[in-house]
Formats: sequence, structure tokens, C-alpha cells
Amino acid sequence: MSDAVETADLGDLSDLSDGEMRCFEDVGKYGIVVCRVAGQLHALEDNCSHADTPLSEGRFRGTKITCPLHGAQFDVTDGSHSGPPAWEGVPHYEVDESETGVSVRLASTTVDDRDDLGGGGMLRTR
Ligand code: FES
Repeated sequence: MSDAVETADLGDLSDLSDGEMRCFEDVGKYGIVVCRVAGQLHALEDNCSHADTPLSEGRFRGTKITCPLHGAQFDVTDGSHSGPPAWEGVPHYEVDESETGVSVRLASTTVDDRDDLGGGGMLRTR
């Protein structure tokens, strides 16, 4: 029995500067968005936990990405949310950057913050 975690190679992201993000639509179920903060890369599922909107179409400032639809904010360093209208965070993935390129482990390391607001659900629209 294998417990290997699936990884995805993203290629060379050395051109991605601090404060920039890039989406990879073909990785995982909803795609991922990769953001650089203070030199480090972070990856989130590219799907708002509120109502299924690509976060990569939103605004990225500091460590927060803001959903373009209703303004929920998520911390790109751990996937946690900052409050309503989202009820929970989004999956966060480990990123490995080396001289040969970038890979992402597709096992979520998300902080489970659903209890912050007493639970909730997602409105699936796609
Ligand atoms: S879909 Fe993102 S805040 Fe509503």
C-alpha cells in the first residue's frame, strides 16, 4: 500500500516577485493559486470557500488574497479566512522551490478554522 502524496511540477517561478500571484488551472480539482510573500512561495486552492469563485481573480496584498465576488479574505500562508462572508478557510499546500523548479504537494496543510464562526457551509455554484 502506498501513502505517497501526489505532487505537481509547476516549472520555474523565479520570475514571480514578492506580491505577485499566478494560477495553475490544471492542478487539483479547482486549480491552485501560487503567491510569493517575502521570498517564499505559498499555494492555495483557487476556489473561494464561500461560493466557488477563483481567488486568483481577486486582489493580493501583503499575505491576504481578497475574493473578487464578495470580499472574503484568506491568508496565503496557511489558508485561513479572516471572517464573513466565508465560513472557513481554503486548502493550503506545501511548495518546494529549488534550482530545478517548483513543485507543490497536493495534500492540504490547512488550518481548520471552521470553528471560528461556529461552522458553516459552502455554496457550490460550479
Ligand atoms: S464567493 Fe468569495 S466571498 Fe463570496
